[in-house]
Amino acid sequence: MIIDPFTTRDRLITASILSADFSKLGSEIDDVLAGGADFLHLDVLDAHFAPNLSFGPPVIRCIRPVTRAFFDAHLMIAEPLRWAPAMVKAGAQNITFHVEVADDPARFAREIRQLGCRVGIALSPSTPVQAILPALDEVDVVLVMSVVPGFSGQVFMPEVLGKCQEIKKRLRENQRMEIDGGINEQTIASAVAAGVDWFVTASAVFDEPDRRAALAKLRQHLPGRSDS
Ligand code: DX5
Ligand code: ZN
Repeated sequence: MIIDPFTTRDRLITASILSADFSKLGSEIDDVLAGGADFLHLDVLDAHFAPNLSFGPPVIRCIRPVTRAFFDAHLMIAEPLRWAPAMVKAGAQNITFHVEVADDPARFAREIRQLGCRVGIALSPSTPVQAILPALDEVDVVLVMSVVPGFSGQVFMPEVLGKCQEIKKRLRENQRMEIDGGINEQTIASAVAAGVDWFVTASAVFDEPDRRAALAKLRQHLPGRSDS
């Protein structure tokens, strides 16, 4: 479990709670973190940007005391600037917005950073790398979607790996690249090869009865982890 993922260059696995059993979210979080997930990915969906509705600040506030793990909020919502303050107040430590909803992505990134949190920018599979370039200097993490935003359990889209390679060339040492969607034992190695730093997994972990075993299978594909 990682308190601050920016303090290491290790490849990290972050568990998306979108596939968790929400009737026992606290123990689900304990289970995956004890099983080896490095931090949590919070998929916030508003049924406008993407055709699904998940959770918001009340849930984040309730799970914050459960763990000291880093909370990486992925806002798949139409109005990230409106909701980012409440997400940070609830305990989110990174706020990733989608470039597709930002008329001025650099301004969006600067406004979010003023909340005192880390800032990420996400691009959907059909969005070209050029779209994020105006904001690249303003963000800490680039989130490359390898599925169409909305649901866990979808099939990995390998055509985004070329974008990962291109983005990797442009990142500074203190920036990270995260991939999100369809990451499992069969796909994680290709994302590692494309230069990805952080790997989001929902169904590959939460759909398995033994989360520790599921995470161990994924971790086998990550270059030498200097686990302390
Ligand atoms: C999709 C979300 C992803 C998704 C990943 O809109 O952003 O984080 O939950 O789920 P899997 O790992 O099952 O593809
Ligand atoms: Zn996500």
